Amino acid sequence: MSVGQQEYRRAWSHFATGVTIITTLEADGKVHGMTANGVTSVSLDPPLALACVGHERNTYGLIMATGRYGMSVLSWSQAHAARHFTLPPEKRPEDSSIRFGCLGGSPFLEGAIAAMDCRVVSSHAVGDHTIFVAEVEGLLLGEGEPLVWYKGGFGGFAAEAVEGEG
Ligand SMILES: Cc1cc2nc3c(=O)[nH]c(=O)nc-3n(C[C@H](O)[C@H](O)[C@H](O)COP(=O)(O)O)c2cc1C
Repeated sequence: MSVGQQEYRRAWSHFATGVTIITTLEADGKVHGMTANGVTSVSLDPPLALACVGHERNTYGLIMATGRYGMSVLSWSQAHAARHFTLPPEKRPEDSSIRFGCLGGSPFLEGAIAAMDCRVVSSHAVGDHTIFVAEVEGLLLGEGEPLVWYKGGFGGFAAEAVEGEG
């Protein structure tokens, strides 16, 4: 059975995820951002996290060049930032509400509910993406409810009790 790309995307759209912005530094020190949900924790000791980045993304070249990135977990009130960083850079409007801070060696998005400073320790090219595994060298925790990506849209998290649980 061969799986079509559209069908494959649709299946994954049923997997609700949080939303992050991966931030990298350009050669002139400017911050570059990309919306990403292909991220997860890999190891606790040492703290390792991975990010899957498409080879056509600007972010891919920037991580390859710098070996570092920031990862900011978005709050529900940051859906505008998530939309902003899915656009190709030339189509991103000026948005003064999007501000960056610095965490160790990486930029992060102010207002994020968690942010991590990531140093790449290994990378694996697989299909049309590379999996970057990074050691988390610094982190900070913020306040707020998470932004959720589900079926191609952004929304909030509803804490409903699941049958059989608390
Ligand atoms: C919810 C969502 C999650 C995404 N996750 C990823 C991801 O994990 N990896 C990736 O390479 N692109 C991902 N993208 C696509 C990029 O955000 C998009 O292509 C962006 O324009 C890339 O920017 P850049 O080429 O300037 O780095 C995602 C898009 C959306 C809407």
